[in-house]
Amino acid sequence: MLLPPDYERGRKVYEICAVCHMPEGWGTPNGAYPQIAGQHRSVVIKQLADIRARNRDNPSMYPFAIPEEIGGAQSISDVSHYIETLRMTTATGKGDATDLQHGQNLYQQHCTKCHGNQGEGNFAEAYPSIHGQHYNYLLRQLNWIQNGKRRNGNQEMVKIINEFSMRDFKALADYASRLLPIEKKRSPYTWEDRNKMKK
Ligand code: HEC
Ligand code: HEC
Repeated sequence: MLLPPDYERGRKVYEICAVCHMPEGWGTPNGAYPQIAGQHRSVVIKQLADIRARNRDNPSMYPFAIPEEIGGAQSISDVSHYIETLRMTTATGKGDATDLQHGQNLYQQHCTKCHGNQGEGNFAEAYPSIHGQHYNYLLRQLNWIQNGKRRNGNQEMVKIINEFSMRDFKALADYASRLLPIEKKRSPYTWEDRNKMKK
């Protein structure tokens, strides 16, 4: 956290991450890979440390998160800075929109305290931003937090989430996937633009 990050070095390290998280950091709308663009630097650092320490099971990513592959603490500082500067897509995977009111009620009652009204999270506390995240990814995380697959979980949150049903999860994930990041974090480009740029 305290090592001053370097943008150019971060961009270089990110080449490995881009294979799964996409060059823009948008992940995939089917939720197999999360959008990580714009995520708080503090959160990315914690998640990488947790994946390395195997507090968070992530077999597909683990081999790429180890020091042999991306380097030590300085590389983590650099790449997490680079990721934070990437702009987010708002064209994310979403749910079927049948239960959004229920999702909003639950969200406002139980989640804003840490994840904020707009899902913006909190840099200083390393609370992740969850706005504009792919629906299927969010749904999977809520399930995994409940069944203990994410052992790095915040205990206060785990207590709340343990009380929830599948209906609650779907409503919450759908609601959060539609929350928009602030204007300056949004990418001006669409998926079509990026496909054209590639050709
Ligand atoms: C082989 C594919 C793959 C590669 C390469 C990869 N990741 Fe991931 N990453 C994943 C998957 C899959 C998940 C989500 C796992 C899950 O569902 O819990 C993930 C999750 C994450 C998360 C947690 C997201 C969140 O919102 O909590 C962060 C942060 C992250 N990756 C950063 C990186 C960085 C930085 C790199 C490069 C050093 C990288 N990843 C390389 C597949 C990959
Ligand atoms: C007391 C603070 C707190 C509360 C309340 C809380 N969370 Fe969290 N949440 C966290 C922290 C810290 C993390 C990251 C570490 C972890 O996995 O626990 C997190 C992680 C998550 C993730 C995974 C994000 C990612 O990118 O992988 C999701 C999804 C999530 N929270 C949803 C919710 C929902 C929905 C609620 C309300 C029902 C909620 N949280 C309430 C603190 C909180």
